[in-house]
Amino acid sequence: MRPHTGPDDWREANRARWDERVPLHLESDHYDHEGFRRTRDAIRPFEAAEVGEVTGRSLLHLQCHFGQDTLSWLHRGASRVVGLDFSEPAVDAARGTAAELGHDTDRASFVAADVYDAAEAVPDDSYDIVYTGIGALNWLPDVVRWAETAASLVAPGGFLYLAEFHPLCDALDDTTGSRVVHDYFSRDAWVEETSGTYTDFDAPTVHNRAVEWQHPIGDVVSAVAATGLRIEFLHEHDMTLFQRFGALERGDDGFYRLPADRPRVPLMYSLKATRPA
Ligand SMILES: C[S@@+](CC[C@H](N)C(=O)[O-])C[C@H]1O[C@@H](n2cnc3c(N)ncnc32)[C@H](O)[C@@H]1O
Repeated sequence: MRPHTGPDDWREANRARWDERVPLHLESDHYDHEGFRRTRDAIRPFEAAEVGEVTGRSLLHLQCHFGQDTLSWLHRGASRVVGLDFSEPAVDAARGTAAELGHDTDRASFVAADVYDAAEAVPDDSYDIVYTGIGALNWLPDVVRWAETAASLVAPGGFLYLAEFHPLCDALDDTTGSRVVHDYFSRDAWVEETSGTYTDFDAPTVHNRAVEWQHPIGDVVSAVAATGLRIEFLHEHDMTLFQRFGALERGDDGFYRLPADRPRVPLMYSLKATRPA
């Protein structure tokens, strides 16, 4: 596999961008952090169904942002959760929310570290569930190294669960989502300077450089399979979580889909891979 290419400052640029966006996201309708403190749950129904029962299991969340999903799994019964993110402000916010909700650090802890350093950075050798995704892999240049890192943290009898935006979306036009306008197989970084953020496109921001990569489904599945984990499923979904294309319509369930009279393409995917006991 040809390695992905990109500028050397990808990590610093992306971290500065994310650090600046944490307070904006905390105040946003999108994350509704006030509501989260009440409902204590941000997990999408398809994830809950696919992950299954978490009661009594330990869970590591890679690229946890400010911990809403991480803490949701705790509220759904996980015995202990650990969130990891390279953004200090995100980790600080996650720790603050955990403390406000009455969780001590034995039950919910958060670590500031790069995902590639996760094995050295997290407090335990392994976890029953390693959970990640929803806009995570696109920030990483090397999906093989990501898979090796994530798999190394899965305990015997445990699993890795990934839910992501489908890479086919990166190849389609923004308006209709039906014309191929970019190379699906590109290994070159997308480097963009865009102010604002997905929770507020008009927000005035200064750290606007973003370095991202596409990871075709085949690369992701092959990378996970090569770690020795057993792939239990790869699901492709006809819905997504935001207005990815102008043509998408928001359904009563809050998810976005192409109109019923249009041929569908996958907009998200999810994967579960287990380590035998
Ligand atoms: C879109 S968020 C992940 C989705 C999360 N579930 C949420 O709350 O929306 C992406 C996260 O990845 C983190 N991130 C990006 N690159 C990273 C890296 N190399 N190591 C660790 N975290 C990283 C960012 O700080 C950000 O919090």
